[in-house]
Amino acid sequence: MRKQIAAANWKMNLTLQQGEALLDGILGKVSSLGKDQQVVFAVPFPYLSQAQQKIAGKEQVFIAAQNCYNKKSGAFTGEVSVEMLQSLGIQWVVLGHSERREYFGESDQFLAEKVNIVLENGLTPLFCCGEALQIREANTQNEFVGNQLKASLFHLSAEQIQKVVIAYEPIWAIGTGKTASSAQAQEMHAFIRAELAAKYGAEVASNISILYGGSVKAANAVEIFGQPDVDGGLVGGASLIADEFVSIINGLK
Ligand code: G3H
Repeated sequence: MRKQIAAANWKMNLTLQQGEALLDGILGKVSSLGKDQQVVFAVPFPYLSQAQQKIAGKEQVFIAAQNCYNKKSGAFTGEVSVEMLQSLGIQWVVLGHSERREYFGESDQFLAEKVNIVLENGLTPLFCCGEALQIREANTQNEFVGNQLKASLFHLSAEQIQKVVIAYEPIWAIGTGKTASSAQAQEMHAFIRAELAAKYGAEVASNISILYGGSVKAANAVEIFGQPDVDGGLVGGASLIADEFVSIINGLK
């Protein structure tokens, strides 16, 4: 049974003190997660250690890094390795967010290398994909997202791909207040699952969680998460407000 996941992406927001208060506020209100539900907080690098300590003992709650480098170690000033994350107890890493692809030029090949090193070290990659507005307007989103998956993930074995969590995030819906309709989300998620099934078989595809990201909030989470191929969300803005994110968690199937 694949997991239903509410993942918060704080991006480059909050001071340490604000982040701690937010985590306390959310964790204090989330008591009973279902056995197939998980909650993930992708926090800025400097807060990873404190955040990890706050979730100690909470089995279905994880802290994620928002990025990592594709090399084991060495002279790469300013970068963070998977081994460093592992040494803090971090178990998840967000990879390929559209903001990293756009502002930091991260290519499909570079992301494939990051996926490899994250999996080699036993962490979970939360791999993001999704199209820009002009691609959606040209109705070529399936081809575009399919190519992103093929280029960065489809070299993996069937065993490895089942350790990846995918987030579909249409760029035109990120931080814009414009959400994909639940039908648009379901259509793309079903396409992604069909691509996974074509490459790895239906059983493997059915084990992979596919999250939706793009202006998810308390008011739309239940409807979006209720779609058969949507397994939760990757949430930016609304994850910075404790009550909103608690409601989103409560909206998981
Ligand atoms: O990683 C999260 C996504 O970029 C969505 O951000 O919820 O602010 O639209 P948003």
